[in-house]
Amino acid sequence: MSHDYDDSPGLAALFARQAHAAEAHGSVLYAGLCRAASLELVGQGRLRELLAPWLGARAGDMLPLRVLGAAHRLVLERRAPALALWFPSVGGHAPADAAGRDSCFTAWVDTLVAHADRLPELLAAPPQTNDPGRAASLAGVLHLVDDAWHLPIRLHELGTSAGLNLRADQVRITWEGGAVGPIESPLVLDDAWIGGPLPPLHDPVVVERVGCDLEPVDVSTVEGRLHLTSFVWPDQSERFERLRAAFTLADRVPAEVVRRDLVTHLHTLRPQEGTVLVVWHSSTWMYLDAAERAAVSLAFDDLAALASEDAPVVHVAREFVGDRLDTGFAVVTQWWPAPQAHVAAGIPRGTEIQHADTPAHGLPVTWMPLRVLSTNGI
Ligand SMILES: C[S@@+](CC[C@H](N)C(=O)[O-])C[C@H]1O[C@@H](n2cnc3c(N)ncnc32)[C@H](O)[C@@H]1O
Repeated sequence: MSHDYDDSPGLAALFARQAHAAEAHGSVLYAGLCRAASLELVGQGRLRELLAPWLGARAGDMLPLRVLGAAHRLVLERRAPALALWFPSVGGHAPADAAGRDSCFTAWVDTLVAHADRLPELLAAPPQTNDPGRAASLAGVLHLVDDAWHLPIRLHELGTSAGLNLRADQVRITWEGGAVGPIESPLVLDDAWIGGPLPPLHDPVVVERVGCDLEPVDVSTVEGRLHLTSFVWPDQSERFERLRAAFTLADRVPAEVVRRDLVTHLHTLRPQEGTVLVVWHSSTWMYLDAAERAAVSLAFDDLAALASEDAPVVHVAREFVGDRLDTGFAVVTQWWPAPQAHVAAGIPRGTEIQHADTPAHGLPVTWMPLRVLSTNGI
């Protein structure tokens, strides 16, 4: 990872970075709001006064996404009718010209100012974008794992949010000329895999689904569904449809979600004979500081020391490349021990191997020939 990255550049710069990320990941609406917010925060306007308690936020706090999520939540709660006119998520129309962008930004700041008393509560937790599109890469890796070990899979997720992606094997995935996953699945990710070679198709059997999170979300409740929905970008209608379908899948396929720090959770895990332990995390690394990242690596070293041919461990990361939010998210694995195909290719146990690239919200997954990473990229 690069070392010249400024983790606390100030809120104006963080909104400017988020504007780039929103643009790169297809939200014209949020790119416009973030750009306007960034400009206003450089001066002494209402927004700067409102957000004064958070001016020192570090990049990993994801403050711009918290503020965007707070305003969207107020729209979804039907408490911000003027802003709702600009939000397609509730039937509005995103601004199409400069005058519209100005009006939308004014309505956005008005909304935040009108509900200033709720900001401490609304901004307290980190953003929880539990995008089911990210299941497309995990599903592919589960096929790779089945190809290598032919063992039942215990699937654990670090920073699971609501645990939606713990059902990755139950998602229907299609690509040009093929499909995998239950045909009756309520969640269908079309054209989700491109590039190649694609993972060899098998029949992964997941026997345990457990995720941990500091702030777990219960999607069996209205509050949980509202919370997750507030973090979907309002002009990305296909993501709302994915989320709704994932709620239905979550009703059908149970998974355990525990309130626990991810390092603590890793320390509770042990490989078990006759199963393969797959530990995955996605869009979570950016929340961790250097000490937490080091602790995660050490915990994986401990797990690796206990792994064997009868009880293998696989670490799967779908995390950003470098420190910039507008670049891709690499799908990287580490295997203990190395499966036969890796041994034959001279790839030692624990080597970081990149299999694919994905955008922030997961789709499409671009598969690539195995790429051995030379650095500790995850
Ligand atoms: C952007 S969400 C990603 C959710 C999910 N992994 C996905 O890809 O859709 C990141 C999650 O990591 C959680 N998180 C951050 N730091 C954590 C920690 N130290 N321990 C457990 N969870 C953490 C946050 O609460 C949040 O739910």
